[in-house]
Amino acid sequence: MSLVVVSNRITRGNANEPITGGLAAALLPIVEKSGAIWVGSSGRVRDGVQKEPFAEIEALGAGALAMLDLPAAHYGGYYEGFANSALWPALHSRADLIRVSQGDYLSYREVNAFMARALLRFRKPDTVFWIQDYHFLALGAELRDLGVDQPVGFFLHTPWAPRDVIEGVPHHRELVEAMLAYDLIGFQTDDDCENFARYLASTLGLSVNDGVVTSQHGTTRIAVFPIGIDVEKFTRQATKAISHPDVSRLRRSLNGEKLAIGVDRLDYSKGLVNRIKAFDRMWTLHPSLARTVSLLQIATPSRGGIEAYGNLQNELARLVSEVNGLHGEVDWTPIRYLNKGFSQTVLAGLYRTAQVGVVTPLHDGMNLVAKEYVAAQNPADPGVLVLSKFAGAANELDTALLVNPHDIDGMARTIATALSMPLIERRMRWEAMMAKLKGGSIQQWFTGFVEALQKARVDREAASRPVSRPPFIWPLRSVSG
Ligand code: F6P
Repeated sequence: MSLVVVSNRITRGNANEPITGGLAAALLPIVEKSGAIWVGSSGRVRDGVQKEPFAEIEALGAGALAMLDLPAAHYGGYYEGFANSALWPALHSRADLIRVSQGDYLSYREVNAFMARALLRFRKPDTVFWIQDYHFLALGAELRDLGVDQPVGFFLHTPWAPRDVIEGVPHHRELVEAMLAYDLIGFQTDDDCENFARYLASTLGLSVNDGVVTSQHGTTRIAVFPIGIDVEKFTRQATKAISHPDVSRLRRSLNGEKLAIGVDRLDYSKGLVNRIKAFDRMWTLHPSLARTVSLLQIATPSRGGIEAYGNLQNELARLVSEVNGLHGEVDWTPIRYLNKGFSQTVLAGLYRTAQVGVVTPLHDGMNLVAKEYVAAQNPADPGVLVLSKFAGAANELDTALLVNPHDIDGMARTIATALSMPLIERRMRWEAMMAKLKGGSIQQWFTGFVEALQKARVDREAASRPVSRPPFIWPLRSVSG
């Protein structure tokens, strides 16, 4: 089997460079080890309709990276437009933020079709295509239109929202019908998979039997594959990174004070405003915690050209400065707020330094920062994870301190509890979470999906074969005399 993995964002795997988003961080080790070809956007665009899409190819461990220049005329409508101003808010149940135009939708479809044409050059008889995330909902259907009959699977890294929110996207029906060209569609959680099945039943009138739906394209399996991390690698990185200059400088600057850490893309789904308000409330309710704990919030900007993201960046900057102005002292800053990315190595060291990890999205497919924070801890003195119950990770990391990110008072109380948790309880909670992480690593996610995809393809082919019936024998006409 030769595997071709496709995602919008890719990473070149330079250990010293920041990686934006959980998807790229998760795919990197599996491409490096499995020898897959990883195809994605180069971040550059090209004018004109190219007959032969241009891809720059370089080695990535045992695999390869193919970076594609996307068509200039459609990139904005595809990425900032339909993918991130219509689909992203809908998938995260923010129907109020959906902004959509027919032009953006057409650009989205054009880029999906463009990617399908580009993938043909990587096709061999034994190729398996694995498409990632909401940027490419229609890519499977485009590949089928080009005659691709190899297994094609899809994994959604975000949540799948309830039917009424999805229907807020005017093109929902065409898109979901196109998705059924995939042999296998994977989700992060049972809730996402159930929402999708309910949409199929109520909106398209298609029922799911034993995880299989039959449509004009044939059969499609839908199933849950919670994504994990490379636990051993991250633990090793954290142990080593504790002596990294950035991490040592942070430790020295703390002067023995405790640290809480949040690391997110600057996105409205991440609950950053509520998190800052919770820290404000905590220092107000417990003035004794001033000077004893500070928050390091890393918020890496992305999708900056979209109005909702620009507004959020301004709101956060204002809020952080208000909270620092209110609780700060001449020699103490309550919140260190950074709008830049850090390498995985440095992040691992920062996580290990922090006594509390705060991962409090309003809604999140999985959230791999939660898993990385746990994997980075010192087994002898682990920190405490404060985790939103609306992150997919909460299904597995259920011995974290689970919070409702809309409840500012509740979060303030929980962070204070985390800071004073006795060692024995911290260890018990952490050991239970580590056992879950080891039982659901990125390697298991990868193997589980690819095996299920190959089986789903075999099942689809079997289901599409005409049922063999016993030959029809014409009845003899009775000849009466
Ligand atoms: O699933 C989350 C996701 O959209 C990924 O597809 C992507 O890698 C990450 O967030 C970062 O988003 P962007 O590439 O738009 O900055």
